[in-house]
Amino acid sequence: MSEHQPLLDPIDPQRRKVMGVIVGVINLGLIGAIVGPVVGFAASPMKSKMKETWVELMDEHLIAPGEIKEVNFSMRVVDGYHEVERKYTVFLRRSEEGVLCLDPACTHLGCRVEYQSDRRRFICPCHGGVFDEEGRVKSGPPPKPMDRHPVKIEGGKIWISREV
Ligand code: FES
Repeated sequence: MSEHQPLLDPIDPQRRKVMGVIVGVINLGLIGAIVGPVVGFAASPMKSKMKETWVELMDEHLIAPGEIKEVNFSMRVVDGYHEVERKYTVFLRRSEEGVLCLDPACTHLGCRVEYQSDRRRFICPCHGGVFDEEGRVKSGPPPKPMDRHPVKIEGGKIWISREV
């Protein structure tokens, strides 16, 4: 070994180019491994927007003015990658203005309210929330009135709209 020989060999420019390409390919692979799952999740059905669906509930003549009816129904909804049958309940109230549809979930913590016809009130069994027949809070912890669903009467039938 002579005294004038450098300690490290100068890197061959061709070899440097090949190394650059290899590092670039590795970086692209890493970016794909990170971005791929994020894009896949964003495109999944869970991220798809809720859509409004009209549901036929009953004949219009089956509810008298001033009457409140608890109505059970089911509908097919997309849950992740599956389509499943879900059961729902709403309260319908017929008044001079038309038909009102109230959601039975208490606006405090979501317990299901019950209608007590003798008191003409919706009562929440969990913490004693009380709503009137229009769904307005009369007492207890609920912070807002019962939720309402849009209603239409078409062809003698009562329809309500739900987001699924
Ligand atoms: S959940 Fe109804 S009053 Fe608390």
